Amino acid sequence: MNYKNREELRVTVDYNYMMSKSLGDKGISDAELSAVADKAAKAYDYVAKNRGRDDLFMGWTELPYNQDEIVADIIKTADKVRKKFKYFVVLGIGGSALGPIMAFNALKHLHYNELSDEKRNGPKFYVEDNVDPVRMQALLDVIEPEKTCFNVISKSGATSETMTQYLIIADILKKKGVNLPDNIIFTTDANRGNLIKIDNSYGGKFKKYVLPDGVGGRFSEMCPVGLLPAAVLGIDIKAMLAGAAYMDELCAKGEISSNPALACAVLQYITMNQGKNINVLMPYSDNLKLIADWYCQLWAESLGKAVDYDGNTVNAGTTPVKSLGVTDQHSQVQLYTEGPYDKVITFISVGKYATEMPIAHGCEDIPDVGFLGGHTMQELIQAENKATAYALMRAGRLNYTINVPEINEFTLGQLMYLFELQTAYTGALLNIDTYNQPGVENGKKATFALLGKKGYEGQKAEMDSAPALDKKYTV
Ligand code: PA5
Repeated sequence: MNYKNREELRVTVDYNYMMSKSLGDKGISDAELSAVADKAAKAYDYVAKNRGRDDLFMGWTELPYNQDEIVADIIKTADKVRKKFKYFVVLGIGGSALGPIMAFNALKHLHYNELSDEKRNGPKFYVEDNVDPVRMQALLDVIEPEKTCFNVISKSGATSETMTQYLIIADILKKKGVNLPDNIIFTTDANRGNLIKIDNSYGGKFKKYVLPDGVGGRFSEMCPVGLLPAAVLGIDIKAMLAGAAYMDELCAKGEISSNPALACAVLQYITMNQGKNINVLMPYSDNLKLIADWYCQLWAESLGKAVDYDGNTVNAGTTPVKSLGVTDQHSQVQLYTEGPYDKVITFISVGKYATEMPIAHGCEDIPDVGFLGGHTMQELIQAENKATAYALMRAGRLNYTINVPEINEFTLGQLMYLFELQTAYTGALLNIDTYNQPGVENGKKATFALLGKKGYEGQKAEMDSAPALDKKYTV
């Protein structure tokens, strides 16, 4: 794609409706912004100084720049996969799945798998990120395993969900006489983890991509985790990385007034300190619907932390909520407008949709309907987006808008990097470890104990000795 005309494709942030100029005493004053400028500059410095540090899990910052060879190799592999296979299935969960699904939904036809082979021009695509047996069976009902390339994505190779899927698929393939390395690609840690052990047992025959040491799952969409599935779909991954690099450039300064990610982080930080503990992301685009899922993980897992770097109990974080414009105007906006003052709403607005859809004239004698004829669906969705933001502002509700000129690889790369940087800055403002996830680990260990994994006997005994559930509280 042509992303040379970068300025026209620039993603911008409009936060007028966060400010007291629009919201009166419900908004943020310039003085409040100035009061955190020093802290914001320090958060910016922290991220700038530690860029690319594997030991801090900040390797993600460099992904737009340091993958030329990997990208070339991925494109070659993707070409082969596209020619050889009828289906491409990602087996992964969390950071290993939400990125690939998000990019698929954003950049491919919304009914991609239902298109004719000719129109689709690539393998059917599925991402399995659950262990619901019904869903697994549903997948098996629609694919032909021997004609499927499975991309097992797991940094640890120890995630029960992903490895369960792997075991089931490997067994099916073996029973069909398939040599596993012919149909399976691993994306995993370079040296550690169980996928490497499996590969070793096959004499290193599996095609493997590396999930770099210093890149955590939720920050991994722009490494092979996301790049391989995207390339198999025919997505221009170089343009996506170029978009990320462009956003990095747009965020090169430590001032709120010139750094969109820092501005977003500061807005979230100020409002969370005021007790606004719900963070809604509401794209006005079906293509961007799943960016909200990806963002929710990024935000929740990064910022929901019990303690800060100084050991203080902070129980930091705000609750991310996904919402879709205009659909959720009819389900949630009533609450956003009149419910508690506990939310910040981030809209994502699209300047130009990929398709224009004129609204036919008709029903002229019914004024409620007739006025629509002659407009377009793009005009309608954009008007509803503007009107909702305006109505919220009039009701004193904090909201800001991320403007995306059009949805393509270059702007998606910008959006992802914007959200990643915003999360990193917010974590630095909160003085917490943005990159660990101790809360998730505890749940994983409890599952291991329940399923009798060796080494978790102590945990199992502890769970067994917990007070018995009281029937009194079961209805
Ligand atoms: O963001 C994260 O770190 C997690 O969501 C992981 O990606 C998820 O738990 C899967 O882990 P793994 O890649 O080790 O299978």
